[in-house]
Amino acid sequence: MKKVSVGLLGFGTVGTGVVRLLTKDKERLEERTGCQIQLEKILVRNKNRARKVLIDNRKLTTDVYEILDNPKINVIIELIGGIDQAYRYILRALKNKKNVITANKDLMASYGEELLLEARTNHCDLYYEASVAGGIPILRTLTDSLASDRINKMIGIVNGTTNYILSKMSSEGLSYEKALSSAQRLGFAESDPTSDVEGLDAARKMVILSHLAYSIPVQLADVSIKGITDVTREDIQFAKKLGYTIKLVGVSEVSNGAIDIRVEPTLLPDLHPLASVENENNAIYVHSEALGQTMYYGAGAGEGPTAVSVVSDLISVARNIALNVTGNHIFIPKKELHSRKDSL
Ligand code: NDP
Ligand code: HSE
Repeated sequence: MKKVSVGLLGFGTVGTGVVRLLTKDKERLEERTGCQIQLEKILVRNKNRARKVLIDNRKLTTDVYEILDNPKINVIIELIGGIDQAYRYILRALKNKKNVITANKDLMASYGEELLLEARTNHCDLYYEASVAGGIPILRTLTDSLASDRINKMIGIVNGTTNYILSKMSSEGLSYEKALSSAQRLGFAESDPTSDVEGLDAARKMVILSHLAYSIPVQLADVSIKGITDVTREDIQFAKKLGYTIKLVGVSEVSNGAIDIRVEPTLLPDLHPLASVENENNAIYVHSEALGQTMYYGAGAGEGPTAVSVVSDLISVARNIALNVTGNHIFIPKKELHSRKDSL
């Protein structure tokens, strides 16, 4: 049986969920992959901090190189978040020929193409299903299930924190501040929730979705962004009286070769299916030429749902290791696109 030795970077909300799943489902994971999966080391900042899940303290380290340069470890799961450090760690892991899984949309929206190219160069896998819409398997849907169709538009609620805040302000009359601190307590918000409430997190997710759906280079600068910080309880109540719900909606569409991506608070008629997406749930409508309209719905944030996506990525990596294959990279790098175009 092949060995999959995992180095986990970050033991916060999602890291805890991943440890829970790996511990609880060890045998099932081995049956599903044909590999022996071992959690080797976990990077933390403080080894003595109380943890929500039982863990052998000897697995904890504060030295990232004990993981990144460890020849025994063949898969790195990055769950520290942020851009600079995560970028450096993932790049080093790939250069050391380790497969990488991440939930980091900040990083993938800015450096995804470069990192995927690096993964390809080093014959490693780089998976990031959890980076968009938490537990909803939307990236695989775009790149695999809908690969034969032409996607031309996506409309979605892709940020759990803001949807939770707007839902609680509407259904329970909570203040913005109370609803935000509740979302933070529940582990939905980013460590700096500014990116959630100002729409940046949703914009990054729309960049990743657009890149995958249309196979064209997309940047954050291409997105028009407005968050929910100006939405008041009064706005919400007034909209309600008129039969509308306010949601932070992301829209991405291509027509005649031009791309339009925006994230903004939007008035939705109460009967619109997106209007009934409550709390931390997310939903994404995909319009494609042959299939028409499909909708993907589920938990968009939180420990358990996000860990499911991360561990399912681990299963994909383990299956590749079992078969001695690599290279299931789920978007085609720009350079590849150019070279393909040139060779036509
Ligand atoms: P948390 O803030 O809960 O966890 C991050 C952990 O990483 C913290 O425990 C932090 O330690 C640790 N950490 C950060 N930098 C270092 C470092 N240099 N060395 C050691 N430990 C470090 O974040 P989440 O678990 O919520 O999110 C992780 C990633 O998953 C992010 O990229 C996020 O965007 C993404 N994500 C999160 C979702 C969610 O619902 N929470 C859903 C989908 C994606 P300390 O506590 O000491 O700072
Ligand atoms: N902060 C993010 C959200 C986590 O609320 O949607 C999931 O990506």
